[in-house]
This record gives sequence, structure tokens and C-alpha cells, in this order.
Amino acid sequence: MKRKLVAGNWKMHGTNADLAEVAALARAHPDPRVDILLCPPATLVVQAAALAADSPLAIGAQDCHPAASGAHTGDISAPMLADAGARAVILGHSERRENHHESNDLVADKARAAQRAGLIAVICLGETLAEREAAQTLEVIAADLRASLPEGATAANTVIAYEPVWAIGTGLTPTAAQIAEVHGLIRSLLAERLGEGEAAGLRLLYGGSVKPANAADIFAIADVDGALVGGASLKAEDFSPIIKALEATA
Ligand code: PGA
Repeated sequence: MKRKLVAGNWKMHGTNADLAEVAALARAHPDPRVDILLCPPATLVVQAAALAADSPLAIGAQDCHPAASGAHTGDISAPMLADAGARAVILGHSERRENHHESNDLVADKARAAQRAGLIAVICLGETLAEREAAQTLEVIAADLRASLPEGATAANTVIAYEPVWAIGTGLTPTAAQIAEVHGLIRSLLAERLGEGEAAGLRLLYGGSVKPANAADIFAIADVDGALVGGASLKAEDFSPIIKALEATA
């Protein structure tokens, strides 16, 4: 049986002072019915992983370089993240696609690196507002999924997060029908690529302004296996109710 997943993305937030939130989260769900992942900035991965040891909370990272090592000043490789205690890595987030001009090819290369290092790749895709208004959402999602999903992707080593760019950090969310439509498309494209069984087991997360107040409604939508949560993952008191809302569906 597939375990649903709630993942938190701290983005460029968090210093030592915020590790208390990690400790609180690690204690708050002793026997969860869903998987819980928190991705702090790379500077906190070692300490967060130590705080989460012997708890159900897994720690992840927010990006990696496609190479294992080399002359890449400022970059961090997937084996380094695994060595630091990360179990997963977010890849192709729209903020990286935009701020760092990351292409689908690069995202796929990074996902291969994550696979080799034994990390779960959380691959993000989503349309911009202009693309949605031009009725291009489904073709954008299909093209991005085809090109950023590497060969070798499985239900065990890959998670897909659908994150409409216009919903991230804005308080706006798509309608239930819009989310269901995109998740249904992703599931059927995965079935073509990986086969029905593998596609059914691969977790599809929705991301973009998920909050305690809307989590239950979002988790009730077909083909939504969890959430990727930004702002509301920064405090355990906000993140925990979202985890509980997913548990209620598991
Ligand atoms: P948000 O961010 O929950 O703050 O909208 C989601 C994300 O970017 O992963």
C-alpha cells in the first residue's frame, strides 16, 4: 500500500534558532499513518537529520548538482546530501527554474544523480498564470513531465509535485476540478512511461498555498497523494494540522 506524503519546503528560511521547530515536529507524530519529509536549507540538514533520528520525520534538501563531485564552486552534490543525512531532494522547483534558468534536461540529470545517491527525487512541475490563461496548462505539464522524469524513475525513488506557479506563496489555489485534471493527466502519462502498477504507486503531491484551513479539501481530490508545503511548513504548529489532515485520509 502506498504511503501518502506531506513534504515541507523551508526555501531560504531557517537558522539554528529554527531547529526547535524540527525537534517539535519530530516529537509531534510518533506513529504517523503517512510519510513526513522536511526540507530545510542545506546548512541545517546535518543538524535537522540528527534531531529527526529515531523519529518518523525524514529530512531532505532543496536542490543538488548533477555531478557527484568536481570543480563546481558553491554547489552541493546528491552523495553529499545523503552523507549529511538527507533522504530526499526537491528538484526543478519553479523558483529554481526561474531564478537559475533550470531546464527540464538539467532537472532530469539532477534526478538521475539523486537516484544514484539513493535519494528520493521530488520533481516539481507547474504552469504559470499566463500559460493557464492561454489554456496551455495540460500541454506544459505533459512536456515538462516527459522531459524532466529520468529513465529509472520508480514509485520508490520518485515523487511528482504539481505546483502551479501562480499558486505558490500567493494564497491562491486552483479549483478541485483543476487539480484533479492535472493529477489525472500526470497519472496517465506515468502509466504510459512506467506501467499502470508503478504509476499507481508513485506519490503525486499538490503544492501551492496549502494551509491548515484548505488541506482537508485538497487531500479529498482524486489522485492527490499529499502536499508540498512552503510557508505553512515553517512552524510545527501550522505543519502538524496539515499532516493530521492527510492522516485522516490514509
Ligand atoms: P507555499 O509554497 O506553500 O508557500 O505556497 C509551496 C512551494 O513552493 O513548494
